[in-house]
Amino acid sequence: DDVTLDFCEPGKAKLKGQLEIAPSAAAPPSYDVIGKSNLEVTPGGKYRPPNCRSRHKVAVIIPHRDREAHLKHLLSHLHPILQRQQLEYTVYVVHQIHGSLFNRAMLMNVGFAQASLDNNYDCFIFHDVDLLLESDRCGYHCPKLSEHGRSNPKHLSVAVDKFDDVMPTYRYVFGGVSIFTREQFLSVNGFSNLYWGWGAEDDDLFLRTWRKGYKVDRTDTEKCSFRMISHSHDRDNPMSAMRYLLLKQSLQRQNEDGLSSLRYRLISKTRGRVFTNVTVDVGGPTPKFIELM
Ligand SMILES: *[C@@H]1O[C@H](CO)[C@@H](O)[C@H](O)[C@H]1NC(C)=O
Repeated sequence: DDVTLDFCEPGKAKLKGQLEIAPSAAAPPSYDVIGKSNLEVTPGGKYRPPNCRSRHKVAVIIPHRDREAHLKHLLSHLHPILQRQQLEYTVYVVHQIHGSLFNRAMLMNVGFAQASLDNNYDCFIFHDVDLLLESDRCGYHCPKLSEHGRSNPKHLSVAVDKFDDVMPTYRYVFGGVSIFTREQFLSVNGFSNLYWGWGAEDDDLFLRTWRKGYKVDRTDTEKCSFRMISHSHDRDNPMSAMRYLLLKQSLQRQNEDGLSSLRYRLISKTRGRVFTNVTVDVGGPTPKFIELM
C-alpha cells in the first residue's frame, strides 16, 4: 500500500451512470485493443488509482471455458468501470482445460485460492463471463473494512435482461455475480467442489451462507442491473437427480467440501495484458455422479 496517499473520496469518482452496451452480436475487441483503451491497467489485469489510496482491494474471479468472445466483451466493458470506481483490483480468469465437465464452482474456489497467494485482497467478486453491468453506480466492492463484522455477502445480479428475449428479467438464487469478503468466503468454506455441469452450485452456496449465520444482501438490486450476452438455452438445464441429492446434503457436507478439500493441478498462471490467466485441470466427476446425471 502506498500509505503516503490519502484515501480515495467516493464523491470524486467520475461515474457515468447508465452505460451503453454494444449488442452481443458485435465482434468483440481484441485483448490488444482492450489494453490500449485501458493504459493504466498493468499486466495481469491489475490496477490501482494513481492519485489516491483505494478503500477496496478487489479480486474479480471469472470462470471460463469456450466463451472467449464473451470474455472479451466483459473485459472491455468492466475495466473502465472498475477504474472509475477507484478500486484497487485484479481480474483473474480461471480457465478450465478440456477433458471433463465444466465445474464453475470449483473454478471460483481456485480463483479465490490463487488470488489469495498473490495479494491480501479483502473482497472477491465471483463473476459469470456473460453478464454486463448496465450502470457504473453499482459498486463492485465489499462494505468498508470497519463494517465487515456486520456485513453479509451480496448477490448483485438479481435483475438480468437478456438480449433478444421477451422476458425482461431472470432471477437466480445466488448465481451470476456475487460478492464476499475474505472472512465471509472462508467462513462458508467457499463453494462445494462437487457440482459438475451446469446448475445448483449457486443454490448450494446460498444454503451454506445461511448456515453460517449470514443473510444474502440484495439491497443493491436497484442500482445493479445486468445484460446477459449468452443464449438462454445454456441456462435451462433441468436439475438432475445427482444435483438434487447434493443439494439436499449440502449442509452436512459443508465443512468437508469446499476450500478445505480443494485439489487441482495448476497448468499455468500467466499475466495476460488485461487479466491473470489461471489455467487448471480440476479433474472430473466420479462414475457415480455420471450415472446419476
Ligand atoms: C489461458 O492460458 C491457457 C494455457 O496457456 C490457454 O490455453 C488459454 O487460451 C488462455 N486464455 C484464456 C482466456 O483462458
